Amino acid sequence: MERLDKLLASTGRWSRSQVKELVRQGRVRIDGQTAAKPEYKCGPEQNIEVDGVSVCLQKFVYIMMNKPAGWLSATEDKRQQTVLDLLDKPLQRRGLFPVGRLDKDTTGLLLLTDDGELAHRLLAPKSHVDKVYLARVDGRVDREDVAAFRAGITLDDGLECLPAGLEPLEDGSRCLVTLQEGKFHQVKRMLAFRGKPVLELKRLSMGPLQLDESLPAGGWRQLTQEETARLHEAAGSKN
Ligand code: URA
Repeated sequence: MERLDKLLASTGRWSRSQVKELVRQGRVRIDGQTAAKPEYKCGPEQNIEVDGVSVCLQKFVYIMMNKPAGWLSATEDKRQQTVLDLLDKPLQRRGLFPVGRLDKDTTGLLLLTDDGELAHRLLAPKSHVDKVYLARVDGRVDREDVAAFRAGITLDDGLECLPAGLEPLEDGSRCLVTLQEGKFHQVKRMLAFRGKPVLELKRLSMGPLQLDESLPAGGWRQLTQEETARLHEAAGSKN
């Protein structure tokens, strides 16, 4: 059990003093009863409403976004719009961050959370969480490229990439790339090394998490409980 003002302030939506003011104005209800005092003890299993809207009291937030091209995978930038700008204001205040970056022109699955431990585990090289990308290239991906990816490419600058999956689609101008790691511009650099520069790149999945194709570009939603549980399982952490 926790004080009402502390519990509501933990969502990042209001400060403790703002919560006190909301309570004073009679705008907070607990299980249907108007809250009388900010120090009232309550728990996350109770239905707490502010202005008639239930407040989500979960410890961490997990968001799946269909990242649009032209937005930075960062939490803030002086000049450019970041993916955080696409979220609602209260969520922006929660301290969410993207789990692994996508380039500005890359689209598709981006996970945002405030769960630092899960993010760390998902990104740790030893967790080998596969990321699958759909690429459109200048040229045609062929069997030799597939074999080179499978063997593990060493880039011109000496970067040794782990063995990766490459599956040509249709005439080879599009392909699926599966990486176990996430080095800077990795898909673009690997395909450019094979003489097939990337024209478009979209991330489709990260471990068990698949991009929800019903999300429009720039759209997002909270993960379902099942998606969150599967992600924790893939990262080897407890939910
Ligand atoms: N690889 C890239 O080259 N770019 C991305 O955005 C992600 C993976």
